[in-house]
Amino acid sequence: MELCVIEGDGVGHEVIPAAVEVLKTLFPNLKIHRAGAGWDYFQAHGFPVSEATIELARRCGAVLFGAANSPSYPVDGYYSPIVRMRRLLKVHANIRPISYLPVSTARAGVDLIVVRENTEDVYLSQEKSSNINGEKGTVQKIVTRAATEKISHTAFQLARLAKRRLVTIVHKGNVLPQTDGLFRRVAFEVAEQYKDIQTDELLVDTAAYWMVKEPTRFDIILTSNQYGDILSDMAAAWGGGLGFIPALNLGDDVGIAEPVHGSAPDIAGKGMANPTGAILSAAMLIRYHWQKPQIAEQVEAAVRNTIDEGAYTADVKANGAVTTGEFAQLICQKLQAATAAS
Ligand code: NAI
Ligand code: MG
Repeated sequence: MELCVIEGDGVGHEVIPAAVEVLKTLFPNLKIHRAGAGWDYFQAHGFPVSEATIELARRCGAVLFGAANSPSYPVDGYYSPIVRMRRLLKVHANIRPISYLPVSTARAGVDLIVVRENTEDVYLSQEKSSNINGEKGTVQKIVTRAATEKISHTAFQLARLAKRRLVTIVHKGNVLPQTDGLFRRVAFEVAEQYKDIQTDELLVDTAAYWMVKEPTRFDIILTSNQYGDILSDMAAAWGGGLGFIPALNLGDDVGIAEPVHGSAPDIAGKGMANPTGAILSAAMLIRYHWQKPQIAEQVEAAVRNTIDEGAYTADVKANGAVTTGEFAQLICQKLQAATAAS
């Protein structure tokens, strides 16, 4: 087993080493390759991720990615390294489970999975400034039958695998009938092949309303790239907060595990970051990419029990919080104890 580790920027340097410690505890022979990417890497090298790193990721098959600091204004030569990696490594699905954990910031009963298309929509086309003063910007929204079929099959197969009852197709087909309307039509066509799973639909704005009002109505959400990005951060509030939520970018050959949160510059370098999202992302890599669900369950149980015993990071508890590294150590100890007992 080989793993490509890219910490990226900010709290990536804290939460990713925490997740690596967990993986090393479970798989002492795991071969780890480290590479750089992101904003700091761009400052040093003039590009945010190298072709060699992308090739390394492809060769390893398994990748653990932290976060990249991406400025909200154009910078010559800069692009989001993770968006590029998702496209070049053909990881077509971004799977983001949001489930209740025993913290005061979470909402009981929430247990949903956002399945987000990862290779097209507005994030993957070349944005353009069509006026020399930058007064007009355009971007293309791309939706294809092929990519929609692929992500829809992933959502329904996941529903079967995870014993889920309902897939909700989220779109804005009423305003965008040629793009979102196509997504909706194809998703419903695929649903016909999975009659054991219920299907319904919501317009994305209505979905946002229900996400706030009644998040337990959702089971699996099948949606396009940008809506999935926004709805999954929104749902993260019900899972305890951004620091808790994992994600896996999954393709036929490559899995990129990355917590949903960003580089969190406001808390970076202070040992305050919650590594749960990163550790549970590693568990998703174990479950779906390496296909070792029992080991993934061990990690998930260790996380739950550690939190249940009152170990909280600073995002949950202002005083008496454990640091990022201490939290990871508690989880590693539980995993070691479980291995010794078995
Ligand atoms: P963010 O997710 O980095 O932070 C939002 C809020 O959540 C902050 O208050 C932060 O302290 C908190 N937070 C995030 N992760 C946490 C953790 N592990 N533990 C405890 N608290 C945590 O989003 P923001 O501030 O909008 O973006 C900051 C930078 O991150 C930007 O440059 C953005 O481009 C980048 N970003 C990168 C992503 C990626 O690489 N996949 C995803 C989202 C943002
Ligand atoms: Mg996001």
